[in-house]
Amino acid sequence: MSWQPAQYERFKEERAQPFRDLVALIRPEPGLRVLDLGCGTGALTRELHDSLGARETLGIDSSAEMLEGSKALETATLHFQRCDIETFGADEPFDLVFSNAALHWLPDHPDLFRRLRALLAPGGQLAVQMPSNESHLSHGTAVEVAEEEPFRSELSGYHRQSSVLPPEAYAELLYDLGFRQQHVELRIYGHELESGADVVEWVKGSLLTDYSRRLSPDAYDRFLERYRQRLAGAIGERRPYFYTYRRILMRARL
Ligand SMILES: C[S@@+](CC[C@H](N)C(=O)[O-])C[C@H]1O[C@@H](n2cnc3c(N)ncnc32)[C@H](O)[C@@H]1O
Repeated sequence: MSWQPAQYERFKEERAQPFRDLVALIRPEPGLRVLDLGCGTGALTRELHDSLGARETLGIDSSAEMLEGSKALETATLHFQRCDIETFGADEPFDLVFSNAALHWLPDHPDLFRRLRALLAPGGQLAVQMPSNESHLSHGTAVEVAEEEPFRSELSGYHRQSSVLPPEAYAELLYDLGFRQQHVELRIYGHELESGADVVEWVKGSLLTDYSRRLSPDAYDRFLERYRQRLAGAIGERRPYFYTYRRILMRARL
């Protein structure tokens, strides 16, 4: 995935709010051993580690670019590792498996959540936040552009399909996996952006990275231009623009 930390961090404060809401759902306990999946730059992992007073925290991410500055954040009890969530395994279980805005990049959530449950110690907690904004024009427009020629051929027919399930499917899944307590919710975050054009800057740091990875630099530039054009047509040139963003937050305990 071609992640660009600087682009992602352009909306750092807006993106930190769901993280803080997720942390607030966790039941704090002394001496937790924590795993942060898709930790990105590690800045929020450190905030999580400090706010919980965790015994030990490991942040993992598959992107070398995102992890670049994470070494500087390490302490005796906070570590980072470059690793794929799909293949991650551990000798010792965790008291908290945490993931903010990362699991929506992985397929087959029933199987993924079964594997995450296996990483937990008895009584362990799972805390996950994922975007679920496919119904917004910002996301629909990307699919429309991907289906237009020449992009359709350049992407070999690919367009991003979210693996995120409806909130109630997670409630059922957590129940089936044996979690005794659970809280699953859908929240709408509203962001007042300077203009509709800022939506492009927002999705460049997240959704569109999937297309930038699959297209040549030149084709991606053309894709971005067409996306900008179509989105402006769809949402208009409003100033300010109120960007709504649906996110699923959940916390469950074994
Ligand atoms: C939107 S960023 C979120 C980063 C961080 N959790 C935060 O809240 O700022 C998503 C992160 O998930 C990572 N990621 C996506 N798929 C992954 C995978 N299969 N294994 C490990 N990391 C992955 C990306 O590299 C990226 O750093």
